[in-house]
Amino acid sequence: MREMVKVSAPGKLMLFGEHAVIYHRPCIVTAVDQRMIVEIKPAREEKLLLDAPGVGIKGYSKKIKDLACGEVPKGVRFIETGIRNFFQKYKVKQGIEVKTKAGFSSEVGFGSSAAVTVGVAAGLAQLFKIRLSRKQLFDLTYKTVLDVQGVGSGFDLAASIWGGTLYFVTGGKKVIPLKINQLPLIVGYTGIKADTPTMVKKVANLRKNNKKLVDSIFDQMSFLTNKAKVTLSKGNFKKTGGLMNLNQGLLDALGVNTKELADLIFATRKAGAWGAKLSGAGGGDCMIALVPGKMRRKAEKAIERAGGKALKIKPNAEGVRAE
Ligand code: MEV
Repeated sequence: MREMVKVSAPGKLMLFGEHAVIYHRPCIVTAVDQRMIVEIKPAREEKLLLDAPGVGIKGYSKKIKDLACGEVPKGVRFIETGIRNFFQKYKVKQGIEVKTKAGFSSEVGFGSSAAVTVGVAAGLAQLFKIRLSRKQLFDLTYKTVLDVQGVGSGFDLAASIWGGTLYFVTGGKKVIPLKINQLPLIVGYTGIKADTPTMVKKVANLRKNNKKLVDSIFDQMSFLTNKAKVTLSKGNFKKTGGLMNLNQGLLDALGVNTKELADLIFATRKAGAWGAKLSGAGGGDCMIALVPGKMRRKAEKAIERAGGKALKIKPNAEGVRAE
């Protein structure tokens, strides 16, 4: 066992196919240069000792044998369950001290739960000197996400693990890295925190009463995502932007758009974006726009004028790594 390990895992932004990916359609996701840092070292007592200031947790402790049992504060669920799953799978047991430091707020929808889940699992693998392939790391962390929140496609875990920009199918059935040199993306935050499981349930309810219709929307999203895989790989941002606009129309049809997101989307289109859409579950969080280089400042200013915050992020970032 090592004395101390430090890893970092990136956040993500969904480019195409949100919601449809829950229903076994593909999506495209990019990792962003905002990273979650996880430090782990052995502790003397058989306990988890945790500091996670990003989610308001300081001096938290729990016996290893009680991990993920009883009352678990919201910000700790992914960490406790992830450690329990790792210990069960790799038959290890050890008190540990964990510190997490987020380079981004858990409010913006960059996937802080996924990044911390990946960071903890990758950190434990290093600590115990267990070699895990990316697929093994994905399967382990996907189990943790399903144990905690019951729903989710795992696309955010894949982005955190592989990094770059990925074509992804539910549960990691396909994870295909796209060769992309640059991605002139801007990001606008609405200032409203969205709750992914609530939005996923909202779409599930819509589908319950309109199955044929909603499934055909998912099929169209799938068609768009497959086209975007090609246009993105060719660096054709104009066509990709047009596909983003179409994807936004379909997300609106699913009922996950909001006035605040729409305001930022229309503002960036008016300021010269090739295309714009919400990114993620909808209901709040962020929108994205593909923008020609010379329009970038104008589009960012348009986001601010429309009541949002233009976030400085770089897409296509490196996956989980040792620090
Ligand atoms: C949320 O960012 C994207 C959803 O498709 C959920 C998921 O894929 O896990 C709505």
